Amino acid sequence: MHLRILKNSIDLARAAAEHFVARRPRTVALSGGSTPKLLFELLADPNEPFRDQIPWPDIHFFWSDERHVPPDDPDSNYRMANEAMLSRVPVATNNVHRVPSENPNATEAASEYEQTLVQITQQPLPRLDLIMLGLGTDGHTASIFPGSEVLHENNRLVAAPWVEKFQTYRITMTLPLLNNGASVVFLVSGAEKATIVKEVLQGPEKYPAQAVKPTNGELLWMLDEDAASDIK
Ligand code: 6PG
Repeated sequence: MHLRILKNSIDLARAAAEHFVARRPRTVALSGGSTPKLLFELLADPNEPFRDQIPWPDIHFFWSDERHVPPDDPDSNYRMANEAMLSRVPVATNNVHRVPSENPNATEAASEYEQTLVQITQQPLPRLDLIMLGLGTDGHTASIFPGSEVLHENNRLVAAPWVEKFQTYRITMTLPLLNNGASVVFLVSGAEKATIVKEVLQGPEKYPAQAVKPTNGELLWMLDEDAASDIK
């Protein structure tokens, strides 16, 4: 595992943008959250160096998780990424693979997404080049929450767990898929994450985020100083 600590959330987003450019990914899983949003804005910004170094039309975009809402909903992770980045750069629309989360049946949406992943990558267990993840204060990542049965999912690549705490379904990539990534990056910022960051990185195994351990890829934790303030 590699750990990088950056001064603040802007520097964190910048370091993540550099990582994105350096990895030259052709398949990317985006996540929701506030730190990724900064990253997306930086990547798309014509006044920053990143945009011109990225072969936008060649990249396939997926989502590591999605809320069970239509794509135009303010809670949609697709909508966020689209507004912050995808609509501002020359992606190929056919390469933007959002979760069909408008389907009232979340399980169906998850199966459909799994099929899309397999079909596009042409791999039964896709090896995505770059997977971005966040960390919740409860130790969840993607939409794998503590105590969820999806933690033990071994067959499906995408699942639709019920999230008790929000009284809703979410659609999420599962551990077999996440752990098959070539480069898996956690982006975590803010003082409210300091306690959970310490527990996840230095405590005994009990949180979903600790189950993300790529079997044959790199794991990178990128934190800002606030999020890293409790670790030794
Ligand atoms: C989501 C996420 C989720 C997120 C964490 C951290 O859709 O909610 O993908 O796993 O990454 O909750 O979110 P923040 O970066 O906003 O704290």
